[in-house]
Amino acid sequence: MDSTSSSNSVAGGALRVLFVASECAPYAKCGGLGDVVASLPKALRQLGADARVVLPLYAGIDREQFGLHPAGPLAVMVGTGERFSCEVWEATAPGGVPVAFIAHESFFGRAGIYNDPGGEGYSDNAERFGLLCFAAMALCEARGFAPDIAHVHDWPTAILPALLTVRRPAAFAHTRTVLTIHNEAYQGYSPASALPFLGLPSSFFVPDVLEAYGQLDLLKGGIVLADAVTTVSPTYAREILAEPAACGLAAQLAARARDPARFRGILNGADYDIWNPAADPALPAAFDLPDPDPGKLACKLDLQRALGLAPAASTPLYGIVCRLTPQKGMALLIDLLDPLLAEMRLQLALLGNGDPDLENAFRDAAHRHPHAIAAHIGYSDALAHRIQAGSDFFLMPSLFEPCGLAQLYALRYGTLPIVHATGGLADTIEQYDETTGDGTGFKFDNPAPCALHDAIGWANSTYFDRPAHFAAMRRRAMARRFDWATAARHYLDLYRTLLVPPATTPRPLAP
Ligand code: ADP
Ligand code: GLC
Repeated sequence: MDSTSSSNSVAGGALRVLFVASECAPYAKCGGLGDVVASLPKALRQLGADARVVLPLYAGIDREQFGLHPAGPLAVMVGTGERFSCEVWEATAPGGVPVAFIAHESFFGRAGIYNDPGGEGYSDNAERFGLLCFAAMALCEARGFAPDIAHVHDWPTAILPALLTVRRPAAFAHTRTVLTIHNEAYQGYSPASALPFLGLPSSFFVPDVLEAYGQLDLLKGGIVLADAVTTVSPTYAREILAEPAACGLAAQLAARARDPARFRGILNGADYDIWNPAADPALPAAFDLPDPDPGKLACKLDLQRALGLAPAASTPLYGIVCRLTPQKGMALLIDLLDPLLAEMRLQLALLGNGDPDLENAFRDAAHRHPHAIAAHIGYSDALAHRIQAGSDFFLMPSLFEPCGLAQLYALRYGTLPIVHATGGLADTIEQYDETTGDGTGFKFDNPAPCALHDAIGWANSTYFDRPAHFAAMRRRAMARRFDWATAARHYLDLYRTLLVPPATTPRPLAP
């Protein structure tokens, strides 16, 4: 065993890390959470930890395409004492990460991960993801895998620390829990009637633990009860200590932040095995440093043709790939589109889906300006890669952004991000300096249409008037790295902190 792996071992064996999550690319992904749960365990394994993932087997996961194989039945006891008959399927994810899928037809055999086709959250999400947590515990018990760390993500699995407080299976006797908050804005409000299913006593249903506005607040329970809480960038870790970013949980988060060893902002990484313009199967041409321009231009012309935009090498092309939710700040852009096109030469290629009003607003704009605006409403991994590669600038005017991965991918593809300086966008993009030509993108402070307008104007004038700066920024952006190994080392450091004997580390509130 080399020195790296031995330093990530417990009592001679590898550090065992169990990820319990609702998304993991390529199997199930709505946004960046899926990317993180794919990449972080892989990076942890590369550093010698035994990281594994447990995920629901959603109806949308293609078992054949992803090489899943059945691994037997699993009886899962929930809080009421009722036994659920689940099936386990297994696969090995890229990087050798073992992934176990929990199949239960009535809970997971649905079209959506969180929502029905109308966009309404399933009313039994607390039970669905509660079952996932119980199943993860039962599976570890059955397989003799005793996790040192159970790492849970966002509201869907934030309930696991609470479940362990009430009933600790033998395999979890020494397990410490880590909750990563990827987005404070989603807290998993659920009916209190889910408490018996979860096996939680009514003493948990108080504002200091799980109650908010008469409902269960699953994320809050995790924030209060996990052994450590992390979020996905240093700036967001500061922002969520106060409202409005805390979304009502400033008091709980500030309480956790009093112990900085157990409350950390760890910047996400980008998976450069997947986001690599030199070897990207979705692209018509490869490109990389030191001379990215010819390949990047081929990608741009191909994208313009594919989306019905006027094929114009010298018209700056702005790309957008995002969930169309209020978070992403697209409302700032909508009313700017007509004036921008009247004032400046530019094109826009958007890929996104979500809010029907935003979807329609972009469709309408594309109808008004068919040669300058393309709006692909939907979800497409391949098109996401092509937009990242073929665009000159990447727009991410998010009102808030815990980390953001899309801007990291844009950097690697030489597509200069234009971002609101918030959360991880503030941490990862270096402001353009017009006097020196330094920087990797364009940041604005005030999330208002006029500030976005000015930032786009600044980017456009840099493209036309300071081409040497633009070219140097593109190369600088492509050379930046936000690798997962760095993030994984921070997580390992945190995990090790938690493994010190509990006598010196009092738990937070336990009802
Ligand atoms: P968030 O997690 O808030 O959605 P991130 O920037 O962290 O934001 O991650 C977004 C991820 O989801 C990226 O991998 C991006 O390419 C992908 N993505 C978002 N919307 C779409 C879409 N409509 N089609 C394909 N990929 C998408
Ligand atoms: C969330 C956030 C995003 C972050 C992603 C992965 O969806 O909105 O900023 O990058 O999770 O952590």
